Amino acid sequence: MSRIKITVVGAGNVGATVAQEIVRANYADVVVVDIKEGLAEGKALDINSAGSVLGYEPRLIGLDGYEGTEGSDIVVITAGVPRTGDMSRDDLVTTNEGIVSSVTREAVERSPDATLIVVSNPLDAMCHVAKDASGWPRERVFGMAGILDTARFRTFIAWETGASAQDVQALVLGGHGDQMVPIVSATTVGGVPLPKLVSDQRIKALVERTRKGGGEVVQLLGTSAWYAPGAAVAEIVHAVALDQKRVLPCTAHLEGEFGIEGLFMGVPVKLGAGGIEEIVELDLSDEERSELGRSAEAVREVVGVLAGSH
Ligand code: LAC
Repeated sequence: MSRIKITVVGAGNVGATVAQEIVRANYADVVVVDIKEGLAEGKALDINSAGSVLGYEPRLIGLDGYEGTEGSDIVVITAGVPRTGDMSRDDLVTTNEGIVSSVTREAVERSPDATLIVVSNPLDAMCHVAKDASGWPRERVFGMAGILDTARFRTFIAWETGASAQDVQALVLGGHGDQMVPIVSATTVGGVPLPKLVSDQRIKALVERTRKGGGEVVQLLGTSAWYAPGAAVAEIVHAVALDQKRVLPCTAHLEGEFGIEGLFMGVPVKLGAGGIEEIVELDLSDEERSELGRSAEAVREVVGVLAGSH
């Protein structure tokens, strides 16, 4: 029986961290590709060399082209330029549209049965680009953002309440931008609803910090985050590769769910071997529903900037 094969496109901070997380889980053969000569190969050599210490097999391959990615079960797209300085995710749209479109074509040509996970920013718009470039159904083309945004929210709630981050259950939906929608009505700490533990005013502050969470890292580091994004992508990869049926927020092509039509947005989905096996609709408060509508408008605006057919 052969191992599952996973290709990660882009060996920058996010791509290399994704590859490292997957290799550490020790069930897959992983290929990382970057057009910058030596980058993927160097990262692979370094990550492989940690395996004998940390307890995983050194089976990561670094390539500067797509020959060798054939027959992947999962392809993760992290290629593109990250934001720096005062850039918003949306400032990247034109540059990354060209990059994501071309790497998607290269990858899907060689792995026609794969599941495609998009990570490049602006995330929601890049999911449209990858879906168009591949021509694949929505079950097999979707994006990572909600797990990351939710992870930030959970972290801030853990600090606020002094509870373990693992016991904070939360959900952040909508576009991966400042209009994202933390669903307070679905947020609990050890089963206790958040508003029973934290004042409305403090909840507002935690929500605001979550919305700006990516930007806070950019302000500090001068470039965007990679540890939490890498861990979040790996959670999706494990769910699909191991058919785990996890219910997690991902960026999915909505076709009427939540009252939204023809747009990629973050919603809860069930992930298994078939990719997105179900879009999970939940009851939202009126305010959350209207915030989701506003987030959809913001995403539509960015999608409207794409040179492709939108
Ligand atoms: C963030 C970037 C990667 O949220 O979108 O950190």
